[in-house]
Amino acid sequence: MRVQKLFIHELLFHVWIGIPFCSLVVKSVVSTDPSYVACKPRNCGSGPNISYPFYVEGAGADFCGLKGFRIICQESTPIFRTSKGPYIVTNISYENQSVRLVDLYVVNVNANCVIPRHKFAFDDESPFDFSSSHVNLQFFYSCDKSFTPPLETSLVAYASNSSRLSFVALVLSDGSLSGNHEMSNQYCGSEVAVSVDLEGYWKTNKTIKTVNYTELLMAGFSLVWYGDTCANCKTSGGRCGFQNNQSLCFCPDGPHPTHCGGKSPCILLSIISILIHVL
Ligand SMILES: *[C@@H]1O[C@H](CO)[C@@H](O)[C@H](O)[C@H]1NC(C)=O
Ligand SMILES: *[C@@H]1O[C@H](CO)[C@@H](O)[C@H](O)[C@H]1NC(C)=O
Ligand SMILES: *[C@@H]1O[C@H](CO)[C@@H](O)[C@H](O)[C@H]1NC(C)=O
Ligand SMILES: *[C@@H]1O[C@H](CO)[C@@H](O)[C@H](O)[C@H]1NC(C)=O
Ligand SMILES: *[C@@H]1O[C@H](CO)[C@@H](O)[C@H](O)[C@H]1NC(C)=O
Ligand SMILES: *[C@@H]1O[C@H](CO)[C@@H](O)[C@H](O)[C@H]1NC(C)=O
Ligand SMILES: *[C@@H]1O[C@H](CO)[C@@H](O)[C@H](O)[C@H]1NC(C)=O
Repeated sequence: MRVQKLFIHELLFHVWIGIPFCSLVVKSVVSTDPSYVACKPRNCGSGPNISYPFYVEGAGADFCGLKGFRIICQESTPIFRTSKGPYIVTNISYENQSVRLVDLYVVNVNANCVIPRHKFAFDDESPFDFSSSHVNLQFFYSCDKSFTPPLETSLVAYASNSSRLSFVALVLSDGSLSGNHEMSNQYCGSEVAVSVDLEGYWKTNKTIKTVNYTELLMAGFSLVWYGDTCANCKTSGGRCGFQNNQSLCFCPDGPHPTHCGGKSPCILLSIISILIHVL
């Protein structure tokens, strides 16, 4: 009986005193995990906070994000590059898994004469998709006087002169774009479909005449991504990233498989010391 009581006392001692004491010692001796520190949310100086699955290229922390989510800080502006050109990252919602992009060339010109020249295109193996608000602005540049636009259009006056006219149309679905292409091509110098967002339940009521297309271009468009949100890791106080090609949750006390607060070294030490006593 006495021996058993003693054993239970010892066990309690190990569990109740040992773990907190050990935690204190480990915390003061072992510095915060370097990967955890490296994967802290970053900022280009302006714009949204950047964290998993995004990462800032050249910040020495490429392992803190996923391929395809690279952001470049260009003079304190966060830039997302595609093979077609650069876009400013104006907003990231980690909760909604969405990111808002604005064509860098669109915002860098006088708002009174925006002439978008290239469409947005997904790179190979892009993790993104358009959001449900996605629509297109279809520009027809430098068209012959005999060109009759296939859709309701507005004249783009600043890109027109007495002999060649430019137009813009609002195209609500990607499907209706394809057929027009060749028809307009023989009359116009060039043609481009540019992504914008049109929000709200009544968006199908909108036409190029009832929207301000310059404002739509300046506001940009959002992309969504799917899959692992890192939510478990984040709510447990960790930061997601990679080590040896394996996704991990970096915590102040080191990497864990999915979330912080798993088996800490102290609990392991306690278990070992208890086992030593028992055996
Ligand atoms: C970025 O994070 C910091 C610290 O959590 C916060 O104070 C700031 O408001 C965030 N900035 C943006 C743009 O969300
Ligand atoms: C980002 O989006 C949210 C939700 O739409 C909005 O409340 C916030 O103002 C936006 N932030 C910026 C910097 O545009
Ligand atoms: C996230 O989605 C909700 C619901 O659709 C919306 O109200 C909110 O504005 C969105 N937040 C951002 C930052 O986009
Ligand atoms: C009108 O603009 C086109 C380019 O869109 C140009 O080639 C042409 O010379 C211009 N014509 C006049 C009369 O300015
Ligand atoms: C949009 O169109 C529907 C019919 O197609 C109409 O009932 C509704 O009132 C319109 N909404 C607005 C805001 O114009
Ligand atoms: C469209 O929006 C731009 C930028 O806000 C503004 O300068 C312009 O006057 C607006 N155009 C119309 C027709 O309302
Ligand atoms: C990491 O994983 C990817 C895909 O699973 C593979 O293509 C790549 O070779 C791996 N890299 C290393 C360094 O193991």
